[in-house]
Amino acid sequence: MTEKREYTGDYPDKTLYIPGPTEVREDVIEAMCEPMFGHRMDRMTDLYTTIVEDTKAFLGTDNDVIVLTGSGTEFMESSILNLVDDDVLVTTCGSFSERQVNVAERLGKNVDTLEYEWGQAVKPEDVRATLEQADTDYDAVTCVMNESSTGVRNPIEEIGDVLAEYPDTYFIVDAVSALGGDYVDIDAHGIDVLFTSVQKAFAMPPGLAVCVVSDKAYQRELESESASWYGGFQRSLDYYDRKGQTHSTPAIPVMLAYRTQMKHMLEEGHDARDERHREMAEYTREWARDHFEMFPEAGYESQTVSCIENTQGIDVAETIDAVSEEYDMVFSNGYGSQLGEQTFRIGHMGEHDRESIEALTDAIEDVAGL
Ligand SMILES: Cc1ncc(COP(=O)(O)O)c(C=O)c1O
Repeated sequence: MTEKREYTGDYPDKTLYIPGPTEVREDVIEAMCEPMFGHRMDRMTDLYTTIVEDTKAFLGTDNDVIVLTGSGTEFMESSILNLVDDDVLVTTCGSFSERQVNVAERLGKNVDTLEYEWGQAVKPEDVRATLEQADTDYDAVTCVMNESSTGVRNPIEEIGDVLAEYPDTYFIVDAVSALGGDYVDIDAHGIDVLFTSVQKAFAMPPGLAVCVVSDKAYQRELESESASWYGGFQRSLDYYDRKGQTHSTPAIPVMLAYRTQMKHMLEEGHDARDERHREMAEYTREWARDHFEMFPEAGYESQTVSCIENTQGIDVAETIDAVSEEYDMVFSNGYGSQLGEQTFRIGHMGEHDRESIEALTDAIEDVAGL
């Protein structure tokens, strides 16, 4: 049984290098401290239409955008409810894609999997072969863009191009931990649904999930037998069209933070943001290869989370504790019991830059005696 541990408010500040939540700018935190207002006031329409339209501009998409109170997992669930009546093919290569299997099974859907070992990437040609050989027409195929548990970046663009040949099969992409730090041209690759959580590469406080929905997916939901109420695309988008607001009471303070952070993101622009993340990822990989090895299959390393194979057998848990204690920086162990000590992970996303990542790798070198 878990016992209460009183929150004291007295904790040292730690710089976050975990795969989310990540560092949030000071003015973004401050933006949350406004007196409250009602979610049916005109002011709410100003706030919500601003964040939705700014997000479309940042992502360069003509698809619809929903910003919903909740975390990314909400859209893992509702996109299945909204688009799948019978059969779904879930590609798996780590913990979060395996969660998608669990979610879809609990919703009573027929789930087939295309499975890869942890660390391997999903291959478009295997998706094609699976679709060709299947004795059913799948309602949807799902793929995680960035498998945060293994640091694999899946080639969702090429997989989307394969799926474009199957117009009755919808493509659902979990872009949590990637979007905002790894640019994807959503409209060009037949991606029907793509979702993320704001506490990752958007570098916002947690509490909101973002979903980009194609017109085709919106139409499909109208015929769905199991469409979600809370996460229904139709309910959110129709409400937006009529009132420019959300269907139920949103986390207004986090939306205020969103507004401020999205202005910073627009000012930087997605090309520059993508480039900054590329630089951080390249630096981290180079450092990792100098001292250890990268865990993901070569050529599929993530641009926002590096998963590093602990080839030196350092005590990962002890190193994390010592870096936290001595440098006030926090990075992550490997995911779950499977990868806990075998790997460790550095989140280089959001507002970090090469210099701040170098400060962490210097600290790890010092503590681990590399
Ligand atoms: C790839 C991926 N998918 C889904 C999730 C779940 O997101 P949330 O915790 O916002 O529900 C995570 C969280 O780390 C993730 O990394």
